Order: sequence, then C-alpha cells, then structure tokens
Amino acid sequence: MKYSGYAFIYTIGCQMNVYDSEKLASILNACGFEKTEDMDKANVVVCNTCSIRHKAEEKAYSFLGRFARIKKKNPNLITVMAGCVAQQEGEKAFERVPHLDIVLGTRAFSRFHQHISAIQSGRSRIVDIEDSPMIYESLPDTAGFEKNKVSRFVTIMQGCENFCTYCVVPYVRGKERSRKPENIVEEITLLSDSGVKEVTLLGQNVNSYGKKEGEISFSELLKKINDIDGIHRIRFATSHPKDLSMDLMHAIRDLEKVCNHLHLPVQSGSNAILKKMNRGYTRQQYLDRIFELKNQCPDISLSTDIIVGFPSETINDFNDTMDLIRKVEFDSIFAFTYSNRSSAPAAKFSDQIDEKEKLDRLNLLLQLQETFNEMKNKTQIGKILEVLVEGKSSKKRDGFEQFEKNMEQMTGRSVSNKIVHFPSSRVNIGDMVRIKIENAYPHSLWGHPEFD
Ligand code: SAH
Ligand code: SF4
Ligand code: F3S
Repeated sequence: MKYSGYAFIYTIGCQMNVYDSEKLASILNACGFEKTEDMDKANVVVCNTCSIRHKAEEKAYSFLGRFARIKKKNPNLITVMAGCVAQQEGEKAFERVPHLDIVLGTRAFSRFHQHISAIQSGRSRIVDIEDSPMIYESLPDTAGFEKNKVSRFVTIMQGCENFCTYCVVPYVRGKERSRKPENIVEEITLLSDSGVKEVTLLGQNVNSYGKKEGEISFSELLKKINDIDGIHRIRFATSHPKDLSMDLMHAIRDLEKVCNHLHLPVQSGSNAILKKMNRGYTRQQYLDRIFELKNQCPDISLSTDIIVGFPSETINDFNDTMDLIRKVEFDSIFAFTYSNRSSAPAAKFSDQIDEKEKLDRLNLLLQLQETFNEMKNKTQIGKILEVLVEGKSSKKRDGFEQFEKNMEQMTGRSVSNKIVHFPSSRVNIGDMVRIKIENAYPHSLWGHPEFD
C-alpha cells in the first residue's frame, strides 16, 4: 500500500546502524513517507538503537520516552524501536516503552513495510526479531537518497561469530554472513554515479569477508572496488587483529584508492585479559602485526579501540595496555570503560572492577594518548595533504573571523583520516584540495589551500 506523510529516524550506535537507518529510510520512502528532521511533523518515528554499552541503551530508552508526548498529540503516529536493543529485548520492550507499535530486530528489515501496513489496518504491538537470510540484498538502494554526502558507508557483511566475552554483537546481529561481491560493486557504482567519492566498507570483521561462502577474499573485493570510476577513496572497518593478513597489508600498500589508515582494535595490552576476552591473539602477536604493517606501509596511520577495567584487570594488566600504547604510537584511540552486558559471558566473571577505578584508569589512558595524538599530528606540519571536502566547520578556530575575511572555514579528511580545517572562498563539498598544513592540535589539523 502507498501512504503519504513524513518519517523521522534517530540513530544511536555504530556506522553499521547509520547504514541501516539509511535502509530504513529508503523502505519508508518506498512506502510513500518523506524523510523529515522534525519529529513533531512525523507520521512514523523510528529510533534505531544500540546496546553495546549500558549508556547507549539508556540513551535509546530516554529517546523512545519522547515518542509518548507526540503520540498523545497524534494518536495515529506509528512508533518504532529498531536495531540492537529491539533485537535483544523483543516483547519485553513494551514493559519500558508501552506506547511502542513496532519492535523491529536487526534482521527483520525486509518485513518492515508489511508491519507498517498491519499497524495502519489496526493491528497493535508487532514484534519481529526473526532471522532472514541476508538482509541487505532485498532492500531498496539508497544512492541519491542522502543528498550532499560525498562519503558513504556500505555494509559488506552482517553478524559476528567471534564471541568476545564482553560483547553483545554476536547475540544481537546473528551469524556472520557476507554479501555477494557483485551486489556490493553494483551498490558502490550507483553511489559513485550519484556523486559519492569515498566509501567505507563495514563489517565486524572484514578480514574474514567471503570465507564462509567461499567467495573472493577481502583483498580481492578491495581490488574490484578500486576499479570503480568516480570513487576516489576506500576505507574499511573493522579489522580483527587475529585475521589481519599479509594480503590485506599489500592491498593497503598497492591499491591507490585504499586509504593509508587502519583501525585495528586491540582492546587490552595484557595477555591474561586478552585471553579472558577470547580475542584470539597475544600482545606480542598484535605488536608483530603492527610492526610488519609499519614495515610494509611506512606512513600508515593507526587507530584502535580499548576497553579499560575488564573484570579482574589488575594495575599490572592496565600498565601493559599503557605500555602497548607507547610502543605502537597510535594516531588516535577510542577508549571505553568496560560495561557489563547481561547477555555476554563476562557479566558472570568474578572480580568486577569498581566504576570509579575504571574511570580513573580511563582518564590516565586518555591523557597519555592525548600526547601521542598531538605528537603524531605535529609531524604533518609543513606537509601538503590531499583533503576531501566534506562541509563547513561548525567550530571556528580562534581568530578565524578576524583574519579570513569573506572566507568560509571548511572541513574535510586527509587520506590518513585526519580532520583538516581550512579557510577558502572557492571550494565545494566533494572537491579534493591540496592543503598545506600549518598547525596541529590533538584532534585536528589546520592549513591553507595551495591555490589561495
Ligand atoms: N567488531 C569490532 C568491534 C565492534 S564494537 C571489533 O572486534 O573490534 C566496538 C567497540 O566497542 C569494541 O571494539 C570495544 O572496544 C567496545 N565494546 C564492545 N563491548 C563493550 C563493552 N561491553 N564494554 C565496553 N566497551 C565495549
Ligand atoms: Fe564483538 Fe568481538 Fe565480534 Fe567485535 S569481534 S563484534 S568485539 S564479538
Ligand atoms: Fe551498537 Fe549494534 Fe553497532 S550494539 S555498536 S549498533 S552492532
């Protein structure tokens, strides 16, 4: 059935959820709903949720609470909880959010339009947390849908079977499955035709792409995408250290569009903790891979994820993590305090660490990394970096207004994924510009275009 009206979607969580929300928007669009940024105007409201940490889950519930007020004003409003918390809670979601109409799990997207019709015809409280084979292939494409975006995500795999003991992903995203290479290539070609210049390929463990299906390897997939006209840059996340192959290192080194940056989550620098996390590698194996990578790709920029305060983490374990950070010299880090998730095995581990102690350790780690961020960024001063312009900077640099009359402060990213701000009166979103770097801060670089 075809409807008319507006759909509002709010997204919490990882890049994969951002991609999923674009898919949900395109399904709603095919049903006749236009996208709106104004929740009060909407006929369908969706919160796409994340349950990776307690905070993300609470954020979802607090946002879903806001739907009650709008539903009071507009009883025909359709309220939807989608994504990882929906998958985790199923029927139980109604206990905390009684005004919900649809609970849509992570693999139920292909049935979303049917559920919308059912609610429109008077059904109430639909829960769909069933599986379906490969969710992305049957959904409408989103090329041209997100106007003005030069960089887009493309999910190439769903699910995860690594079962790290702290993590909910295998339970909320199901078994690992890879999309067919030809479908991925077709989707990226459409994106390229619509003006997209950069794609980030997404999977929980991209290095195992295609293995179960007997498809081409991840490096071979990169080669195919490297050949797509109009795409200038290819990024990907996430690589698992245990599966990082020489082949992939060579792909980063040799394929001109594959960016010189790797996000390689280590989680901890302590062997005892890595074992309890079920990560499948030791500290030394991680370091060996990093040094081999630096050897193959000398200018590579590196980032990682760290969990601080995993159950039984001693000060010595924590110091091993601090030491690993000093040894690797990451360009940036995403660090979190361990969050206890009841569906993950570590919830039952003994010696859970006190919250205050976790936060103290996190602060020490962030302080240490801040010095590396700045040190790494300072090495860029004087260099000319190619920047893909993504938009105007929202935060103006001190003194910008005085010195840069008639200019806009623009922002983009370098090949190595560093944020670069620069003043210019003549660049557009999507342009590639060469910027001479003049200043470096812990989280961004500043410079002028070569031509200005
Ligand atoms: N598949 C990716 C990670 C996906 S989750 C990988 O294996 O690296 C993103 C990050 O969230 C993880 O790298 C981890 O650092 C963090 N994370 C996952 N579960 C967590 C938990 N229970 N508490 C704190 N951080 C967690
Ligand atoms: Fe979670 Fe581990 Fe899978 Fe990453 S590899 S999604 S951390 S279980
Ligand atoms: Fe969160 Fe689900 Fe992503 S739990 S991190 S939105 S896979």
